[in-house]
Amino acid sequence: MSLPFTSPLDPRLDELWENRSELGPGDAAARGIVVAAVNALDRGEARAAFVDGGGEVVVDERAKRAILLAFRVLGLSRAQVGDFHYNDRIPLKSHLDGVRVVPGAIARWGSYLGRGVVLMPSFVNIGAYVGDGTMVDTWATVGSCAQVGQNVHLSGGVGVGGVLEPPSAVPVVIEDEAFVGSRSMVVEGARVRTGAKLGAGTILTRTTRVFDVETGEELPRGEVPAWSVCVSGTRVRSFPGGDFGMPCVLVLRRLTEGEPLDRLALNDLLREHGVSG
Ligand SMILES: CC(C)(COP(=O)(O)OP(=O)(O)OC[C@H]1O[C@@H](n2cnc3c(N)ncnc32)[C@H](O)[C@@H]1OP(=O)(O)O)[C@@H](O)C(=O)NCCC(=O)NCCS
Repeated sequence: MSLPFTSPLDPRLDELWENRSELGPGDAAARGIVVAAVNALDRGEARAAFVDGGGEVVVDERAKRAILLAFRVLGLSRAQVGDFHYNDRIPLKSHLDGVRVVPGAIARWGSYLGRGVVLMPSFVNIGAYVGDGTMVDTWATVGSCAQVGQNVHLSGGVGVGGVLEPPSAVPVVIEDEAFVGSRSMVVEGARVRTGAKLGAGTILTRTTRVFDVETGEELPRGEVPAWSVCVSGTRVRSFPGGDFGMPCVLVLRRLTEGEPLDRLALNDLLREHGVSG
């Protein structure tokens, strides 16, 4: 059974949340509390959500509140990169030790990037957590508060959905050693369990139906099992107007724990970036 969770973040955030309609960029005290909380997310000392020892996803509502409050207590600020001009409340992430960030990649303050992460030109939003050794390939987007584990590969154009409101909403969780094929979408609190390999173009939402093709069994919706190879499929559903194919995810086969898929062997040279700082 999971133990009750106590957020490591300042409990005064709850009070600020209750009074959020009265807050604005002029509230220096509130801003100090909120900035400290988002800094803790930025450094990985707090997380918007995590998988506990019992395998349950635990959401830190206080972390989500801190992020939402940041949009109230931070003023708009102008920034410029070359000819590009910006006007935003959330600055870019500046704490990039041990991470390779390729030009064109954008990580916002309040996202955490573990050691050895490679960001190709991609986007990582506030509150997202990207574990050690993970590759975020070109045009992949990691939404606010999404939780991505260690040694994950998010292929080109993958969309990992974000969720901020309501604060209790469970974010997308992609666990260690998972592979998400090109242009896949994992959204709305869907979950890719440890070592799962999702084929290119797979769409997984919280209500996507998932079937094991070996057994015919329907598995829990919105998640793909650990150490499995999955692709998008269709199932036939009868409507008053006829029978139509509806999307689903098919578990093609199971892998043994830790088993690599040769076809997905990635070029280690591209991931090895020698950043030791
Ligand atoms: C899912 C995947 C890993 C499966 O590879 P595999 O185990 O070698 O399986 P196969 O290619 O033999 O495909 C098995 C079946 O699934 C189908 N299939 C394969 N990939 C599929 C996909 N993405 N979506 C739907 N069906 C797919 C094949 O047509 C095949 O059907 P069949 O048995 O009726 O002929 C692979 O197809 C894939 O999508 N890789 C991701 C590629 C990618 O995104 N790379 C990123 C660049 S680094």
